[in-house]
Amino acid sequence: MPETATLTLPDGRVLELPVVVGTENEHAIDISRLRAESGYVTIDDGYMNTGSCKSEITFIDGEKGILRYRGYPVEDLAKNCSFVETSQLLIWGELPSPEERRHFSHLLTENSALPEDFRRHFAGFPVHAHPMSIMSAMINALQSYDLPGLIIDDEEEFERVSAALMSKVRTIAAAAYKSSVGEPIMYPRYDLRYVENFLHMMFSRPYRDYVPSAEATSALNLFFLLHADHEQNCSTSTVRMVASGQANLYASAAAGVCALWGRLHGGANQAVMEMLTYIRASGMSVKEYVAKVKDRSDGIRLMGFGHRVYRAFDPRAVLLKDACDKLLNAMQIDDPRLDIARQLEEAALNDDYFISRKLYPNVDFYSGIILTALGIPVEMFTVLFAIGRMPGWIAHWKEIYDAPQTKIYRPRQVYTGPVKREWLNRFQREKGMTDSRGFKVPEELRTTQAPQSQSLPS
Ligand code: CMC
Repeated sequence: MPETATLTLPDGRVLELPVVVGTENEHAIDISRLRAESGYVTIDDGYMNTGSCKSEITFIDGEKGILRYRGYPVEDLAKNCSFVETSQLLIWGELPSPEERRHFSHLLTENSALPEDFRRHFAGFPVHAHPMSIMSAMINALQSYDLPGLIIDDEEEFERVSAALMSKVRTIAAAAYKSSVGEPIMYPRYDLRYVENFLHMMFSRPYRDYVPSAEATSALNLFFLLHADHEQNCSTSTVRMVASGQANLYASAAAGVCALWGRLHGGANQAVMEMLTYIRASGMSVKEYVAKVKDRSDGIRLMGFGHRVYRAFDPRAVLLKDACDKLLNAMQIDDPRLDIARQLEEAALNDDYFISRKLYPNVDFYSGIILTALGIPVEMFTVLFAIGRMPGWIAHWKEIYDAPQTKIYRPRQVYTGPVKREWLNRFQREKGMTDSRGFKVPEELRTTQAPQSQSLPS
């Protein structure tokens, strides 16, 4: 017998609502018939309790600090897989065979270069343009080159387009950086793998090759892998929202980049580094900074702390903290901001303000230090998050595209604006007259007649 939940409405009517159970025993009340049968909608500010879809891609248990891609614990993937293999897992549901891996690598390589006439668009941005603005605009522009018909005909075409998007966002990101520092844009190399190729395009110069260390490559691989998907977060929900209107993959991904940009989402990694730099430059102690956060009068938050879903710990932060220690040791970097980060973490983990609100370090807390150690400038941090999140967005776009029954995402609302008003001409409005339901009108104005016709400036 399927489970149901019973809802009693204010007028006494009782509705039986089906309960949906996920494969990890998550329970949801299906309200899809609610409005039709009762006239009611639900309201849930910030979607704190709303499941927007069923999805087979990523599972998170925030209470237990669990993150799995297609069933595999992220810790296992981090230990055993590359970012590219993980991307194939996310997009197609299974880890690739050696042949599938080779084929996809080939597609990534073949699609890594930007068309020559496309490259001139970079010159159209001012030098100070934020690379996230360049990234979102360029992904949209790239669609005209890579997917001019806007149609993906079959699986083979989808694989090519997915590889092109994953590969070219990396090239675009590096090109945006090179433009911002006034250096020549580097071409991708056909003999380098995904992460090395990105570092090459970021840091090589036409007259000098940059050869990344194994530690640097492995840290960046981990960074990308841990950002590859995170179920229905703000940017992924945006991608799904745009995709639900049957927008093409590039338009949906560009929208994801825009949503990711905010400081409460992907922009937090940049904000963490700015916070650590500020604490160091101001000479303020960690204790004083934490007191400022708790005081709340300045409205500042401890950036890199807290998460809507994780209430115990963020497993990505645990892996990144470890990688961060290893990388800084291997590179013999002594960044004082790491000490500040450690002190902040310790202070917060022992402070009742943070404990009672279940605020723990999230993925962004240590990632900024890793990226700084790799020489990535702070404005590029969120761009790197976007490169990492691309396979997740592609997987979610595909999930929508493959399900013809997907309805366009179109939430309802509870309207709280003015009730119906009578239209008044400008003369009447200037004289303060209002409709029968409006504000009080001074007595002397009530007899004022509006001119029959007015010639008003447009
Ligand atoms: N520092 C200080 N107080 C905080 C913080 C923080 N980082 N985060 C939450 N709080 C407090 C908040 O003031 C509120 O207190 P009270 O209940 O007394 O009013 C309580 O904790 C609940 O906060 P909330 O804003 O209702 O929680 P949320 O689930 O809506 O927000 C969050 C989640 C991630 C936006 C928030 O924790 C935050 O702003 N963190 C800092 C920004 C950050 O690091 N973002 C990256 C998130 S991980 C990357 C990603 O997946 O996007």
